[in-house]
Amino acid sequence: MLTPARAIAVLASGQGSNFEALAAAAARRELGAPIVLLASDQPHAPALARARRLGIEAAAVPAGRFRTRLEDERAWIELLRARGVDLVVLAGFMRRLHAEFLGAFPERVLNIHPSLLPAFPGLDAIGQALRHGAGNTGCTVHLVTDEIDAGPILGQAVVEVRDGDTLASLAARIHAAEHLLYPAMVRRFVTESWRREGRRIVFEAPPGATAVPGRGASCHA
Ligand code: GRF
Repeated sequence: MLTPARAIAVLASGQGSNFEALAAAAARRELGAPIVLLASDQPHAPALARARRLGIEAAAVPAGRFRTRLEDERAWIELLRARGVDLVVLAGFMRRLHAEFLGAFPERVLNIHPSLLPAFPGLDAIGQALRHGAGNTGCTVHLVTDEIDAGPILGQAVVEVRDGDTLASLAARIHAAEHLLYPAMVRRFVTESWRREGRRIVFEAPPGATAVPGRGASCHA
């Protein structure tokens, strides 16, 4: 399957450093489609300010105090459809998306998680790896399904855990790896044919295309 996205939206709840890495790649025309919107469920998310600085539309869609989860999800769908969005890229988006939303964008919602899934899913993945004593951790780009952090995997990057690492030092290296992996995987998803083989997304570059990083990059950032 090819995902000929015409317009990408990034959804972020926090800092938005991954959004900025994606926006930089889009500005270099490396993503295969433009980012038309940064949307956040947090009205004061730094990601919104980054988008405004970069000249990308920034929209805050906080959870409605008197809305049901379904109504909340419909508000997101309406906003994205109104902008012609056909690929949704989650970058530190802290809301769980349910069947209504995922059904509106089938196999078109991507996420990045700061561990080598299936290790350390859920919250505080970097702290989990550190406390566990893992020798390697990293980041994973995957398709979003209704099971948290368990969708088919597009690609991963390995980051070594060093003696003496703190949460901050390890997080900094994982973020650096994410900023390389996420744009590369979005580009492949948009520009190459792909198929699902069980839990794995297998890419097939079009003949004559320039090679792009593989799906199991090793990163020494
Ligand atoms: C990243 O570590 C990502 O893996 C996780 O949330 C974090 C977002 O960071 N899902 P940022 O907001 O992109 O800086």
